[in-house]
This record gives sequence, C-alpha cells and structure tokens, in this order.
Amino acid sequence: MKKKLVVLSGAGVSAESGFATFRDTGGLWEQYNVNDVASIEGWYRNRKLVLDFYNERRLQLRDASPNAAHLAIAALEKDYDVDVITQNVDNLHERAGSTRVLHLHGELTKVRPENGEYDLDGSEKEVIDIGYEKVVLGDLAPNGCQLRPHIVFFGEAVPKIEKAISLVQEADIMLIVGTSLQVYPAAGLYRYAKFETPVYIIDPASVPVSDPRIVHIKDVATKGMEKFIEMLGNS
Ligand code: APR
Repeated sequence: MKKKLVVLSGAGVSAESGFATFRDTGGLWEQYNVNDVASIEGWYRNRKLVLDFYNERRLQLRDASPNAAHLAIAALEKDYDVDVITQNVDNLHERAGSTRVLHLHGELTKVRPENGEYDLDGSEKEVIDIGYEKVVLGDLAPNGCQLRPHIVFFGEAVPKIEKAISLVQEADIMLIVGTSLQVYPAAGLYRYAKFETPVYIIDPASVPVSDPRIVHIKDVATKGMEKFIEMLGNS
C-alpha cells in the first residue's frame, strides 16, 4: 500500500510561476489593503473594487503556467497516495496534474451567489465555474442574486477545514510548501499530524514554528522539491 503524503501549500509554491506572494516584500498586501479587497466587510463596502481585484488575478492565472514544484508534487502520485491542501486560489496544482486538491480558501475560476449557503455547509451546489471570465456588478446567479468570487474572505468561516484536518490526521508524511504560516486555521493544520509523522517545510525564509518533527528545507519551491524527493528516497 502506498504511504499517505499530505501537502499543504501556500502562495510561495506559485511564486516561480510569476505570482506575487501576500506578505513578502513587494507582496500583494503591500499594494492593496487586505481589508478592502479580501474581507467580507470590504465586499459589502465596495463590491466593484473586490470584483475588479479578482478579475485581474483571474486574467493573470489564465496566462500563467505551473512550475517545476507543482509538477513535482503531481508526480509524487506515482509512488504515494497524495492529497494536496492548498491555501491558493489558483488552479496550478490541477493544471500540473494533481488529482486530489482541496482548496481551503476557495478558487479564482469559480463564483457563487452572495446569499448562498456555502458558508453554512461548504456545499458546492451553487458554485459556478466561470473559467477566466470577468464578473461585474449586475452579473446574477440563477437565484437572481449578485455573483461573488468563490473565495473565503477574512472574517468568514473556512468550511473545508474539517476535511483538511482529517486528511492531516491520516498522513504518514506531511509536506508544507511556501506558506508563512500566519493565517489560521490553515497554519495550525500540521499539529493534527500523528506524532511519528515527519513534517517537511520548504521555504526560503525562516519558519515561525519549532517542533522536533519539522525538517526545514530552506530553499525556493522548485529547488526545495528536488531536495525533498532526494530525502524521501533516502529515508
Ligand atoms: N518558494 C517557496 N516559498 C516561497 C517562495 C518560493 N519561490 N517565495 C516566497 N516564499 C515563501 C515566503 O518566504 C513565505 O513564507 O512563501 C511564503 C508566502 O507567505 P504568504 O505571502 O503569507 O502566503 P500564504 O502563507 O499562502 O498566505 C496565507 O493569506 O492573505 C491570505 O488568503 C491568503 O491564502 C492566503 C493566506
């Protein structure tokens, strides 16, 4: 039986595909006010601003490609039973070939009615795939309500966290790539791993956690994945 490998990824895994991270120097939260474009209060204050912000990200995603780190994560499925839990709203893991991807913070290519029930039950039944199309004020869902990005805004619940926790609890190996581990509940997920489960972190910056199980591979995602795969081979 294949070992269960759970990957938790963040903005850093897509950095080498040309996406700015959020909290690094030059990151998105230096250019935009997070409370304006990524909070539920911001949405109700100025829907157009929020729609424009995600329209721009969606266009950028259309023209981006998965990098060697996304591809290496997908290729692990040959030897491991892999689940990817991503905080990213891009679809680069899927486009690299990963087959089980759980999007904790939503997906750029999807929208849903602003009065939908997603927050309550995490159900995707009202979620619509729009690909790389724009959404503007006045674009309505079948129920007659304004469409909103299928994004978990700050201030909202994270409906998929329970599923993510159970995946981490079952992991034999955990890999964390490119996240500053500043945003909860995602940042606390690794604590649900079994005590004997090794936890690898790939990040060029120092990591804000100390735990004897953690092996820090201090490198960018593409190079770090090469080192991680070598370590797996030797373990
Ligand atoms: N390879 C790997 N990691 C990298 C690279 C790279 N090439 N470049 C930067 N990083 C690392 C940074 O050192 C940092 O630790 O990626 C991390 C990015 O951290 P954040 O910008 O905070 O992104 P993330 O952790 O994904 O943010 C979590 O915050 O605003 C929200 O909802 C948004 O899902 C996001 C959440």
